[in-house]
Amino acid sequence: MTFMNLRSIMLATLFALSAAACGGKSKGGGGGGGGGGTGPDEPAPGPLAAGQWEGMDHEARADFMGKAVLPAMAAEFKAFDAVEFAEFDCKTCHGKGADDHSFEMPNADLPQLTVEMIMNPDADHKAVTEFMMTKVKPGMAKLLGKPEYGQDNPTGFGCAACHVIPG
Ligand code: HEC
Ligand code: HEC
Repeated sequence: MTFMNLRSIMLATLFALSAAACGGKSKGGGGGGGGGGTGPDEPAPGPLAAGQWEGMDHEARADFMGKAVLPAMAAEFKAFDAVEFAEFDCKTCHGKGADDHSFEMPNADLPQLTVEMIMNPDADHKAVTEFMMTKVKPGMAKLLGKPEYGQDNPTGFGCAACHVIPG
């Protein structure tokens, strides 16, 4: 990762954190990770506990994506723009990776991001950038049981988990 990449993601995260702090967003399901007896072969229906995702194989991950990530994220994206995301499925995030079943992320076919786009979105991209920062990034991090990217956590879950950010 280049210096510019790191810096851009850091700045984006700082912005996201302050936006979230001001927004006072409500959280559903405070019970989260601990709740419900999920057996070893049953994927958790809700947010994973820390470290759980890392221990799952490809099949369990695909299962969790279908049962937890897809419905939760489809609801978020549709609430943001019901027309644009009328069709929301694995391909919306994974693109070709959903066809060849690699599900490799980040997905280079998603719009690639730059520092400028993240810090200074033009009028057309302000709302979607805000949506990504306040809903998609934290929502996905929570579902996957991953800490969000931050200065103190450079390996955390950030924009670069899905988007390529060329240096
Ligand atoms: C909102 C975006 C989004 C949607 C929708 C989505 N995924 Fe994912 N998926 C991700 C992200 C991000 C990762 C990488 C998580 C990580 O490791 O940080 C991932 C990872 C995976 C992996 C693990 C790949 C690996 O390398 O082990 C599989 C398998 C997968 N997704 C399958 C699916 C399937 C099947 C669907 C549809 C039912 C789906 N995904 C829908 C975002 C999404
Ligand atoms: C879980 C995966 C995921 C994460 C994390 C994520 N995005 Fe996205 N982003 C998407 C998807 C899916 C789209 C919709 C692409 C489409 O319309 O086909 C998108 C679209 C966008 C767009 C619209 C681009 C355009 O040209 O219309 C912007 C801007 C954007 N994201 C910025 C960000 C920023 C900034 C972050 C980090 C704060 C971020 N995204 C995090 C999946 C993600």
